[in-house]
Amino acid sequence: MVSPMCQYSCETDGLATDWHLVHLGSRASGGAGIVMAEATAVEPRGRISPNDLGIWSDDHAAALEPVTEFIADRGAISAIQLAHAGRKASTHRPSDGRGPVHGEDGWTPVGPTETPWPHDEPLETERLDVDGIAAIVDAFVDAADRAVDAGFDVVEIHSAHGYLLHEFLSPVTNTRTDAYGGSFENRTRLLREVCAGVRATIPEGMPLFVRISATDWLPDRDSWTVGDSTMLARELEPLGVDLIDVSSGSLHPDQRVPEPGPHYQVPYAERVAESGLPVGAVGKITTPEGADAIVRNGRADLAIVGREHLRNPYFTLHAAEALGHELPVPRQYTRGF
Ligand SMILES: Cc1cc2nc3c(=O)[nH]c(=O)nc-3n(C[C@H](O)[C@H](O)[C@H](O)COP(=O)(O)O)c2cc1C
Repeated sequence: MVSPMCQYSCETDGLATDWHLVHLGSRASGGAGIVMAEATAVEPRGRISPNDLGIWSDDHAAALEPVTEFIADRGAISAIQLAHAGRKASTHRPSDGRGPVHGEDGWTPVGPTETPWPHDEPLETERLDVDGIAAIVDAFVDAADRAVDAGFDVVEIHSAHGYLLHEFLSPVTNTRTDAYGGSFENRTRLLREVCAGVRATIPEGMPLFVRISATDWLPDRDSWTVGDSTMLARELEPLGVDLIDVSSGSLHPDQRVPEPGPHYQVPYAERVAESGLPVGAVGKITTPEGADAIVRNGRADLAIVGREHLRNPYFTLHAAEALGHELPVPRQYTRGF
């Protein structure tokens, strides 16, 4: 699967552009089994940057239709990651320096508390009240409905990397004392409500994935751990979640991530798989043999490849060739293979 990767390429209000069609379409032409579109905001405040993709109106869904049609024509499966950036919203895209967007072009991020993301000049952040939380659940459900209309085959809920749903999971960022904070049960409530709502909206057989950060990489404080992740997966299974996409970190700038080597997050996927749910492994998977071995040896059910797909859109076609597996090459490209 092509890992979801923000392109920060919208010109107006989260509408997909030719870039999205060409970028995602190229990966489908390159043989990928599942092509997942980037973190796609379920409401305008949920964008990381003003250039993020969104799916908060029917126009947004219509703009994505050519993408899903092209992917389907290539015989691949289209997927979309539904996201809300929470307190990490309203920042400049990486090519513009990443800092907070103050003033007219920016907006007030929302989170489990008023504590902002610790920028040098932090943005005032709004604590969601219970009505605000219910509106977030509705936004995810409506977005999932539109994703189905747009022709996507798989929906993933983004609950990783320090964005809104992860902010509710972790005791580092969630210090609420109401029904959405405190105990494990309370901190996981928002994600469970989102999953239940989305599952009830999308077709019965449609796969539902959830991406999590298996650990906050903050061992010295009360934080989210891999044990919590396995417990969470056990709770998501009866809600109709089909696969946990296992990433890690990015909740807090104090995180201490050991120098990531090849396949560094696979052990976390193995731990989460103890829940009985299928898992996807991601992170520095760059070779055909490596991706194949992860699945063949039962370490994960799905190998998810990010940056190697940026370097080489034809990664999967080359991988098939290297592994002696027959994969149809686009007829336009046969002379190149
Ligand atoms: C340019 C870029 C954009 C990314 N955007 C997202 C995103 O939208 N959602 C997400 O969950 N992860 C995102 N990530 C993380 C990747 O999906 C992936 O988990 C990470 O790059 C590790 O996998 P890799 O070593 O194969 O690249 C992004 C990574 C990159 C390099």
